[in-house]
Parts: sequence; structure tokens; C-alpha cells
Amino acid sequence: MTAQTPPTETERLPADAAGLDRAAALLGAGGLVAIPTETVYGLAVDAGDDAAVARLYQAKGRPAFNPLIVHVADAEQARALVEMPPDAARLAQAVWPGALTLVLPIRPDAGVSPLVTAGLETLGVRVPAHPVARDLLRRTGPLAAPSANPSGQVSPTTPAHVLAGLSGRIAAVLDGGPCTVGVESTIVGFLPDPVLLRAGGIPAETLEAALGAPLSEAGAEGQPAAPGQLASHYAPRGSLRLNATGAEPGEVLLGFGPVAGDLTLSARGDLVEAAATLFARLHDLNAMAADRIAVAPVPETGLGRAINDRLRRAAAPR
Ligand code: TXA
Ligand code: MG
Repeated sequence: MTAQTPPTETERLPADAAGLDRAAALLGAGGLVAIPTETVYGLAVDAGDDAAVARLYQAKGRPAFNPLIVHVADAEQARALVEMPPDAARLAQAVWPGALTLVLPIRPDAGVSPLVTAGLETLGVRVPAHPVARDLLRRTGPLAAPSANPSGQVSPTTPAHVLAGLSGRIAAVLDGGPCTVGVESTIVGFLPDPVLLRAGGIPAETLEAALGAPLSEAGAEGQPAAPGQLASHYAPRGSLRLNATGAEPGEVLLGFGPVAGDLTLSARGDLVEAAATLFARLHDLNAMAADRIAVAPVPETGLGRAINDRLRRAAAPR
């Protein structure tokens, strides 16, 4: 019933002009390409392409839509995506290009898929220091990239690691050699004061020196600072009833596959399409002023787990 992405032969691309051109072409066509950064290999997609981001979650087997880091070629590209308060600009100036991700308010015209932010109003951005990554980013524009490993497994620091986990599930790996940093980027959020969200490749002391002030620390590593945000933001204004096979009087039915609905996540029951359209459909329901929403069952397999996780959060009492 659900279309699976057919296995692909994963290309291993050298980091020369031809390899970079090929990687850029694959990414431009919505492909998934593992790219070297100085921290770990990232699994990159065009940050504005909903369907490509959905396929990325599928390839990684991520059970939930965790927000993704967007990689850009320089600070100017970052400023086109996010608001940069003075403390953030200070950190960017001191560390970029480098292993620092800044979580900042996203601009309304950023052109980033809502699947990248998992519905948050903030976006994690960084300028990687790896010369191959920067060359590629100048050709492609912003790329969303989590670490290039299946969900729950160790982050890859060589092309061989990437292939061990994802061969046949991604279009290509761009070979930039082993990663020099080897641990993920340090993540700093702003509430509005700078907060360390994840320890990583840049020591907190370096950041504190640039800020001229101590950094406070958030709770769980790399988790959104206020987990409640995930539950409420992008939840439609109406209430949700899940696993509905039909609408009760007064309900608007969001369909999937054989459950047609007033509107649908995917008429053909395709989980990739459903993930790519999920946030747009929730927006549509708001535009329709639906206050009672019934949602068709979505299978709890593959991307369906992430979709259901998101729907359960949206259905949670607020
Ligand atoms: O070094 C790195 O950061 C690597 C390379 C590829 O750049 N990427 C990486 O991505 O480690 P990933 O997806 O494995 O981890 C991203 C972390 C997640 O823990 C996520 O929760 C957090 O960043 N994150 C991203 N956007 C966020 C946001 N808007 N608010 C809070 N946390 C965010
Ligand atoms: Mg990771």
C-alpha cells in the first residue's frame, strides 16, 4: 500500500570539479547526498525541497521530525535565513566557518521547508569549515543535513562509515576524506541570552571568550530548549481525532490512502508524499477554520512513525 523508495546504487564521488558538479546536480534534483564536513559527514538535501527532506527522514529511519541543521556557504547566506542578534553575530564572527550551530529566529521568507524546523520558529544554521562542503554550498545554496547515519547509530566520520549505514538508500557520498573534528557541532540557542544546547566541536570557553560572558546550559543535549514548543507549534487550531475511518458530523476529515477525506496527506497512500505535505495540510486546516479534525490512520512503519509522532503531538491536549 505504501510506495517504498527503490534501492539506488550509491555513487562515490571524488571531491574534484566533476564530483562537485555531480553532487550539486543530484541535490538540485531532490537527491540525498552525504557530504563531508569538518565535524561528521552530513546527509544533505536542498533545504527548500519538502519531498527531499521527507525522503531524508525516511532514509535515516528517524522516528520523529527532529529539527535539522541548515548548512550555508557564509554568514551572509545565514543572514538571509535567520535574524542575527549582536551576540549571535559575535559568535559567528569568532568561529565561522567552524563547528558551531546557531539556533535563531527563522525569517518568514527563508524558503526553508517546515519539515526542516519540525515546525519550530527557530532554525539551526552553520557555516562548515570543510573546503569541499563550502565549495559545494556555493554551488547549491542552503543544504539541510543531519549526521549521515541511520537513526540511533554512531555518526560517520569517513565515506566508508556512511556507506556501511546508508549504501543503497542515498544517491551519493562525496568523498572529502576523514573528518578532522569528528564530533558534532556545538549548538547555541538564544532565549534571548545565549544558551548552550549541545556541547560539541567548539569548546564553550571559546564561545565565552568571544561573548565576554558565561554561557548558560540547557537541559537535554541538542533537544529543543522548550520541548513544549514542538507539541504546540504547527498544531492546527482545531482539535484532532486520530485513526478515524470517517468523519463524524461537524468534523473535517484529513485522509490518507483509501480514506479519501476532505483533503488528504496522500491519496495514493505514499508515506514520502504524506510527510512532505503534512505541515502544508495542517496549515490548510487552519485556513479552513476547521475546529474538529478527524485524521485517517497512517501506518506505523517507516516515515509513518515520524508522521504519527507529529500527529500525536498535534493531538495532545494543550
Ligand atoms: O556537526 C554537526 O552539527 C553535524 C554536521 C553534519 O553538520 N550535524 C548534526 O546534525 O549533528 P544532527 O541532526 O545529528 O543533530 C542536530 C541537532 C539535533 O539534536 C536537533 O535537535 C538540534 O540540532 N537542532 C536543530 N535545529 C534546532 C532548533 N531549531 N532548536 C533546537 N535544536 C535544534
Ligand atoms: Mg546525529
